Amino acid sequence: MKAREICKGVQWMGCVDWNRRLFDALIPLPDGTSYNAYLVRGSEKTVLFDAVDPAVSHVLLAQLADVPRLDYLVAHHVEQDHSGAIPAVLAKYPEAIVLCTPKAKPLLTDHLAIAPERIRTVEDNETLPLGGKTLRFIHTPWVHWPETMCTYLPEDRILFSCDFFGSHLATSALCSGTDPYVCEAAKRYYAEIMMPFRSMIRNNMKKVRELDVGLIAPSHGPLHDHPEIMLSAYEDWSSDRVANQVVIPYMSMHGSTEMMVDHLVAALTARGVGVQPFELSTTDTGKLAMSLVDAATLVVGTPTVHVGPHPHVFAAVHLANALRPKVKYAAIIGSYGWGTKAVEQVSALIPNLKVEMLGTLMCKGLPQADTFAALDALAENIRAKHEAL
Ligand code: FEO
Repeated sequence: MKAREICKGVQWMGCVDWNRRLFDALIPLPDGTSYNAYLVRGSEKTVLFDAVDPAVSHVLLAQLADVPRLDYLVAHHVEQDHSGAIPAVLAKYPEAIVLCTPKAKPLLTDHLAIAPERIRTVEDNETLPLGGKTLRFIHTPWVHWPETMCTYLPEDRILFSCDFFGSHLATSALCSGTDPYVCEAAKRYYAEIMMPFRSMIRNNMKKVRELDVGLIAPSHGPLHDHPEIMLSAYEDWSSDRVANQVVIPYMSMHGSTEMMVDHLVAALTARGVGVQPFELSTTDTGKLAMSLVDAATLVVGTPTVHVGPHPHVFAAVHLANALRPKVKYAAIIGSYGWGTKAVEQVSALIPNLKVEMLGTLMCKGLPQADTFAALDALAENIRAKHEAL
């Protein structure tokens, strides 16, 4: 794809990666992704914002073919999907200086072997005139690493936000408009990348709200030309508000745990509580992560494998703990053949979740009337807790 004009003196560059299906060797990408870079030309200075994944350096270099001089390269974030092509860009432009936060400078030398003399750090709120355009650097740590920052271009009311407000979405559309699927993709991205840093996101949102933003230009997915949609969505996702929803990641080996999950789903539904069960052998972990953005309660369902939880459950619960969702309540249900330590082992996996345990229920063999009655009681307990939210 060729460079595309956003407004006078500002161009989108980068690569739409239609076929990538896995990120960080972990995150499913059902819709591909993009690595967005941006070129801003003032009357005196020319700046490139970020680069692209090293696998597609050639795409960015082709777009830069008719750019004779580059004064600065702003590195908002050191993760390689944005910084990987920086060495190739610096090789093409020996005069260019990298601008980044003080925390980013050693990371750029560690990860990309960029010579320290080619890097200049910028302070929070520092400005840089380009001639008719001004850059204002906004330190926004933990969106997604500790070194991250954004840049605001007041003359055009553009916020270059890198991972912040991004979405893994390959599209030919330059801007999102009001497409609700972009908001869903951004929520998936928030869940996978940003959710562990919720309190820092809130602090950064206050900084963004002080700016007059007409366009958000992230480094993944389309630009947000209706920025209020994304800003208010982020404020909601990162708030303390939880929804009347229960998320149930589970596995079942011989059907007992599944019978329990099915009964609980029906009991919760009958009480007006929303439920999202995820059978983990077929679950898209991004969908599971998304469901945890808002849910008030997590119920883990597991059979017993060699005394402990099923390995798929182990992985899902470990992920939930790492993502630090704002769930308030939890429960563990499941089954076993002759003995089990699954409850103890699952409980030990979630130290980051500040939850009230509403109960545990492990059934020996086939669930029968007493188990179903206990599941009804659990559903009633959850309903009452949710009603009091
Ligand atoms: Fe898109 Fe944290 O890199």
